[in-house]
Amino acid sequence: MKNNNIITIDGPSASGKGSLAKALAKKLNFLLLDSGLLYRAYSYCFDKTENHSAAKELFSSLRINSIDYEMHIFEKNMDITSILRRENVAKSASKLSSLKETRDNLISFQRDLAGDHGLVADGRDMGTVVFPDAGTKIFLVADAEVRAKRRFLELQNTGQGVNMRDLIDDIRLRDEADKAREISPLMPADDSIEVNSSNLNLQEVLEIVLKIYKENTKEV
Ligand code: DC
Repeated sequence: MKNNNIITIDGPSASGKGSLAKALAKKLNFLLLDSGLLYRAYSYCFDKTENHSAAKELFSSLRINSIDYEMHIFEKNMDITSILRRENVAKSASKLSSLKETRDNLISFQRDLAGDHGLVADGRDMGTVVFPDAGTKIFLVADAEVRAKRRFLELQNTGQGVNMRDLIDDIRLRDEADKAREISPLMPADDSIEVNSSNLNLQEVLEIVLKIYKENTKEV
């Protein structure tokens, strides 16, 4: 049975998943699961501890809060979300996320976030592995150059200096790694709908996805 309380948004990095997921959560008053941020948090813990069992323990001591339809992660009382968004954490998350131990340590945690309330789940394997029964599954794509430009502006806004050419290369390499990994590779679920955001703004993508969601949840 399909669960209409869950919308999954998968796709490569910087395809616009995060902004779309937030806008959808806000529009529908759903909770947002930013699974990439969980992978980043787990990598942050692993970099500190250098082994999976200690990383899991440290990870479970972190606090997750929803602030204005965004997921934030706190270590003790410090909001570490902006640290987790840095490129060095993204690189280490991409490497660690190919390991079975990492994925096993995060899967039930992600499923537990789905309760009776609505959930928008953003990631790479939300529709294929974590929530295969989700009622609406979107696979959001965009050209690598468009994605690099978005990431460039995002990083520039947070004061991180980056080179556009390096970003395009990094994005391509990370996509390849995410697609090629053996466990939970980045790929569309059979019952997902692909949306290409290269030439669309957020409002346009949101309208397309809301239409798909309404169609899927229409009473017959
Ligand atoms: O979406 P993001 O850039 O915050 O994700 C960080 C890394 O985590 C990315 O390299 C892929 C990995 N990831 C994953 O393997 N599975 C998910 N469901 C979400 C993210």
